[in-house]
Amino acid sequence: MDILLLGAPGAGKGTQAALLSEWADIPTVSTGVLFRNAIEQETELGKYAVSFIDRGALVPDETTIALVRERLSESDCAEGVILDGFPRTVAQAEAFAEMLKDMGRSLGFAAYIRVNQDVLLDRLSGRWFCSNCGATYHHVFNPEAVEGVCDNCTRPLERRSDDEPAVQNRRIKVYEEATAPLIEYYRATGALRTINGNRDIEAIQADLRALLLNAQNACCDK
Ligand code: AP5
Repeated sequence: MDILLLGAPGAGKGTQAALLSEWADIPTVSTGVLFRNAIEQETELGKYAVSFIDRGALVPDETTIALVRERLSESDCAEGVILDGFPRTVAQAEAFAEMLKDMGRSLGFAAYIRVNQDVLLDRLSGRWFCSNCGATYHHVFNPEAVEGVCDNCTRPLERRSDDEPAVQNRRIKVYEEATAPLIEYYRATGALRTINGNRDIEAIQADLRALLLNAQNACCDK
């Protein structure tokens, strides 16, 4: 089953995708992680993407769509994925619908994690991450066990370059202009499920698991 997580920067998409992926044994495809890995490894894609990411802009659709198409063709994605951060424009959503159709698949649901703006800023300003394994922490809401060190791989934690306050505001503006229209796009297809994302991590995860189980059961009933 393919599902996607929608929401503003800092809504908790990556946090929820990681937990759901482990619980349901479905791989996560995060375009943000794919771009950050490419930047870390200094690939051609990374060198191209970094100029967009560091100023809070979207990487152009053509590049992003090609990246996701290639990732979805890999064998571990054959039974479905949890998409985090893609699609992010109507053009990407339309291309994604075509990809699923070409693969003989259809979207299970699009979970929109709705979070108030003041909560988003608190989450982004306290975020730390591990550039080795991608794990994300928050110094108050979701702290690591040993300060400054990743729980999974013991590497030092870092701040994301696009979490600087000026870039945060730009990313939220870009989200409102380019990505928020996808809420209506998926509502119109009947796939949208809205979750109150102002609650703690466990409460949101419980809602996502219930949605996934319902969708899987509905699929089996057909
Ligand atoms: P991306 O990495 O996708 O960033 P984003 O969408 O801006 O989302 P974030 O990763 O900032 O937040 P999140 O919702 O995952 O929250 P998180 O779980 O970390 O993209 C980065 C850039 O790459 C883009 O700006 C763009 O340039 C480019 N890009 C990516 N995809 C693209 C695409 N499709 N097209 C074009 N360009 C693309 O949580 C945030 C913090 O809050 C953490 O510290 C966490 O511990 C904490 N937290 C999470 N949930 C809770 C909770 N319920 N309560 C309290 N704290 C919480």
